[in-house]
Amino acid sequence: MKIAMIGSGYVGLVSGACFADFGHQVVCVDKDSSKIERLNANIMPIYEPGLDALVKTNVDAGRLAFSTDLASSVKGCDAVFIAVGTPSRRGDGHADLSYVYAAAKELAGAIDPKTVVVTKSTVPVGTGDEVERIIREANPGVEFAVVSNPEFLREGAAIGDFKRPDRIVVGSNVEWARDVMRGVYRPLFLNESPILFTSRRSSELIKYAANAFLATKITFINEMADLCEKLGANVQDVSRGIGLDNRIGAKFLHAGPGYGGSCFPKDTLALLKTAQDNDTPVRIVEAVVQANDLRKRAMGRKIVNALGGDVRGMKIGLLGLTFKPNTDDMRDAPSIAIVQTLLDAGAVVHAHDPEGMEEAAKVMPDVVMCQSPYAAAQNADAVALVTEWDAYRALDMGKLHAAMKGNVLVDLRNIYRPAEAEAAGFTYVSVGRGPLSPEV
Ligand code: UDX
Repeated sequence: MKIAMIGSGYVGLVSGACFADFGHQVVCVDKDSSKIERLNANIMPIYEPGLDALVKTNVDAGRLAFSTDLASSVKGCDAVFIAVGTPSRRGDGHADLSYVYAAAKELAGAIDPKTVVVTKSTVPVGTGDEVERIIREANPGVEFAVVSNPEFLREGAAIGDFKRPDRIVVGSNVEWARDVMRGVYRPLFLNESPILFTSRRSSELIKYAANAFLATKITFINEMADLCEKLGANVQDVSRGIGLDNRIGAKFLHAGPGYGGSCFPKDTLALLKTAQDNDTPVRIVEAVVQANDLRKRAMGRKIVNALGGDVRGMKIGLLGLTFKPNTDDMRDAPSIAIVQTLLDAGAVVHAHDPEGMEEAAKVMPDVVMCQSPYAAAQNADAVALVTEWDAYRALDMGKLHAAMKGNVLVDLRNIYRPAEAEAAGFTYVSVGRGPLSPEV
């Protein structure tokens, strides 16, 4: 099949490369000519494990190409995907749909009859109706269908998530469009990945509901962690204890410094704005958004408190800055609020991140970026682990301790064993494992 992907950002690029790998003929389009030039030279605009190799294989096989020319790219396509950004609109938190609508306008005049236009971008309920209206208005004669097909890709695991999805959601009541989508996902269909066909509006809401539910799960366990600290319980035992119940499930129950990234913060906010606009507030999600926002600075204060409450002039080394491991993405990373809290309190912050320091330097210019975790710990009064990169799981704890001036280790992801950290000479503070708890 012939596919065009409009928007060669994170979602467009991963999806385009994976569709090409399924054997389809794919063109990824982007307005940014330098990005397209770099992609043609196999330089990825983002860090995603396995992506450069996947792109190269499919470009070499002649199945994947990059272009800035939208009109010629969508000609003759069976499916044209819109995978442009939908950032939070400045000021009010609604999803900014201007890029989606601009793409719809531009493709309208160029598509051939019986093209399926697929929104992959995360868009509020009803956006498909508007995309359809825009295309019909611009090109009244052409037969087309607008389908919703949300993505559920995790950064750092996106290729695996695409090729082995828990489910594929296709929102359209048009039978011929459903057939095209069956063709697009045929290899997964043959693999028996569940494909769920729904109405377009249901599909649009599924994406928001899924992200809001996952964000709620994380926020719930984070609040349980705070309670554990007060009660002398261990949140990891509580997670395991509730997660083994199949109705709850073990995933997304890791307590930490709060969720960040390109999806959860923006999508939870957009969902509650949609709900408020429809006079149906989703109070649980409102509480989740607020609790998560407050948590990030609270984690900064946790580090300050671990140092006795006054950190003026002290040096703090941070390990991990990205919102999670295996990405260089700094969007809404908890580290940003944590750093700000520490700087506000008068501390000097040094940091290391395996992939994210270039991006991080743009949003935290006052932080000294270091070439290794041990360099970040050099003469530090405390070291705080913010992102659970694998490289930090195997640190030489003795060497880390020896590099420091002080001995406080704050582990915001609970990756170390308290006994081991203490044996290495650290005063160890983690999340949801209260000091009262004798067995932690
Ligand atoms: C998420 C969804 O998982 C994905 O389906 C959707 O398409 C986009 O948003 P992503 O943002 O890449 O993906 O990362 P994810 O792995 O879901 O983590 C999001 C945030 O939650 C991270 O900051 C992570 O550290 C945090 N998190 C996750 C926790 O704090 N605890 C957990 O148990 C799980």
